Amino acid sequence: MRDYVAWHDQYDDPDSELSWRLRTVQGYLEAALDAALADATASVRLLSACAGDARDVVQVLAPREDAARVATTLIEVHPGIAARAARAAAAAGLRVDLRVTDAGTTDAYAGAVPADVVLLVGIFGNLSDADRQRTIRTAPQFCRPGATLLWSRGRDAGDLNSTVRAELTAAGFTELGYAAHPASDGPAVGAVRYDGPPRDLVAGQPLFSFRR
Ligand SMILES: C[S@@+](CC[C@H](N)C(=O)[O-])C[C@H]1O[C@@H](n2cnc3c(N)ncnc32)[C@H](O)[C@@H]1O
Repeated sequence: MRDYVAWHDQYDDPDSELSWRLRTVQGYLEAALDAALADATASVRLLSACAGDARDVVQVLAPREDAARVATTLIEVHPGIAARAARAAAAAGLRVDLRVTDAGTTDAYAGAVPADVVLLVGIFGNLSDADRQRTIRTAPQFCRPGATLLWSRGRDAGDLNSTVRAELTAAGFTELGYAAHPASDGPAVGAVRYDGPPRDLVAGQPLFSFRR
């Protein structure tokens, strides 16, 4: 697998494509939380799979006065990267359920779903077509009806995103937004709403393994 510690260094450059992706994800995340928390009595579940150092989630939640109403689960397999996420969350005064485990089976999600906001960011471009399709077909199990799911996929190895968007639609999601970096081979980010029926999490199901 790639060196994902070094991969995170791309965030150091505010002009990098990855920094553009981060800002785009954060914009969608902010809007999703605003909507989910509009009712002052509401509490929401936020889930990020393959969370990395979780700067997307932490930087959005940290300044929010309603952050205590967000129950956050982060799943990240790399212990060193997960430790960074833990430090960032603690420094921001956020309590998160950080699971240092393989997000590639449904068991990793037990007790954290159905969530109101789900991040599958930085995943699809690293999977085989079959794993991506299985993950998208399973994604309704992560989502409460009405939940917002954010996803991303780079277009550096060919733009498959019309296919990804169609797969999400077929799985019961309605597109809320889609933004592509101006570079033709740059990243893209989508936001979709789950409009299907409630689905129980089925334990023990394989989803994906990263191929790079
Ligand atoms: C491309 S990075 C994206 C990180 C984060 N979502 C972001 O956008 O900044 C992918 C992350 O997934 C983690 N990862 C890879 N395979 C995983 C697995 N099976 N389960 C959990 N995390 C995994 C890597 O360690 C890495 O931190």
